[in-house]
Amino acid sequence: MITVKFEVNNIEREIEVRDNETLLETLRERLKLIGTKEGCGKGECGACTVMIDGKPVASCLVLTGQVEGKSIVTIEGIGDVENPHVIQQSYIDEGAIQCGFCIPGMVVSSYALLKEKPEPSEEEIKDALSGNLCRCTGYRKIIAAVKTAGKKIKETGVEL
Ligand code: FES
Ligand code: FES
Repeated sequence: MITVKFEVNNIEREIEVRDNETLLETLRERLKLIGTKEGCGKGECGACTVMIDGKPVASCLVLTGQVEGKSIVTIEGIGDVENPHVIQQSYIDEGAIQCGFCIPGMVVSSYALLKEKPEPSEEEIKDALSGNLCRCTGYRKIIAAVKTAGKKIKETGVEL
């Protein structure tokens, strides 16, 4: 076991983990942050996406030992049912959610994009979400949701 110190959703954590433990396992099993989903477990679906120091990353491909000193943001750090983030609300408003399994990862990738580029083009949205697979929606409404979120963020001046 190794001890790792890092920040998750603005809370300092210092925990013991297995040497070969993935960040996805640590988040879900030790920290009970189960909004981050496990799909493929090998970097192909994006369901496990979190931000590490502001960049979207597949947490199934990262060992927890690698995030020493880093800042992690999971979907729980973005918004929840009582207080949905404007990005989550835009997904709802655009009807972009079906089974919902891919949505936490989609929202995290959308957040990382809109933080960097408040008014992304359609190509930039597709590019930013290219690592996030959705089996249900066909992506059109997801792209619309990101565009809508960008507009609302601009109008309201919400800080990401
Ligand atoms: S579970 Fe990590 S990319 Fe699929
Ligand atoms: S809404 Fe079902 S996988 Fe995307």
